[in-house]
Amino acid sequence: MQVGIINAGNIGLNLAVSWIRLGYDVMLSKDTHPEKLQERVHAIGLERGLNDNELSRFKYGSLVDAAKFGDVVILSAYFPRLGHVLGELHGAGVTFSGKIVIETINPVNVDANFNHYHDVEYMRRTSVTEEIQKAFPEAILFKAFNNIPATLLDPHKWTPDRVPAVIFVGGNPGSTDTARKLIKDAGFRPQFAGPDLKHAGLLESLGLLFHHLVENEHHGNLNISFDVIKPKV
Ligand SMILES: NC(=O)c1ccc[n+]([C@@H]2O[C@H](COP(=O)([O-])OP(=O)(O)OC[C@H]3O[C@@H](n4cnc5c(N)ncnc54)[C@H](OP(=O)(O)O)[C@@H]3O)[C@@H](O)[C@H]2O)c1
Repeated sequence: MQVGIINAGNIGLNLAVSWIRLGYDVMLSKDTHPEKLQERVHAIGLERGLNDNELSRFKYGSLVDAAKFGDVVILSAYFPRLGHVLGELHGAGVTFSGKIVIETINPVNVDANFNHYHDVEYMRRTSVTEEIQKAFPEAILFKAFNNIPATLLDPHKWTPDRVPAVIFVGGNPGSTDTARKLIKDAGFRPQFAGPDLKHAGLLESLGLLFHHLVENEHHGNLNISFDVIKPKV
């Protein structure tokens, strides 16, 4: 499978490492400071134990190159830069027509003092996913991976009996299996909450709940993830 990653940051790079290991073709791009990308790939390669062959298989390109390269595209922009990123893709004629796009974005904004906050007014009005779909109506759009910290996207941090769920929404009947496979191959347990993108906002609200839990129950420690479990039979 060819995967293009639009903004290989903390989330995108961790996913890319898991997929390159399984033989996927992955093109990385970076929105801000693209010159830092190779250095970050090298760092995460060391951290996650990639060998030279795996490291050499990454392809590099612009945001537009990654959009065109992927059979599947991961859209993982920093929310305050989302308008800019979508504008750049539009400007280059990208439509994502018939392409699976998985976005990971939480509506976390930044103020003049560089404090980050969940933009609850935006969340009341809309969701990131619905806005992306409006901008690219021909994309087969999913939301996934927005409720697990990037540091926990390493499958080696989990044991086979303790693999967290990744809840995803969106797409159409012909594309759900591909999204499911990508989540599984990233090392997680896919849990599909249906195709209706109106429900993407629920996943974004869960992101806000995550931060309240971190603050009030886990003393600011981000090393937690949600799960979906069944009782013993
Ligand atoms: N990170 C998470 O745990 C997480 C979890 C769930 C969802 N998401 C969502 O996924 C999308 C992508 O998130 P991301 O964290 O992967 O974005 P990112 O592009 O890695 O980071 C966003 C911003 O933080 C800066 N940054 C990143 N790594 C840095 C480092 N090591 N040192 C200094 N500055 C650094 C980036 O600047 P540079 O240009 O210097 O890189 C950029 O301005 C976002 O919309 C986010 O809401 C993230």
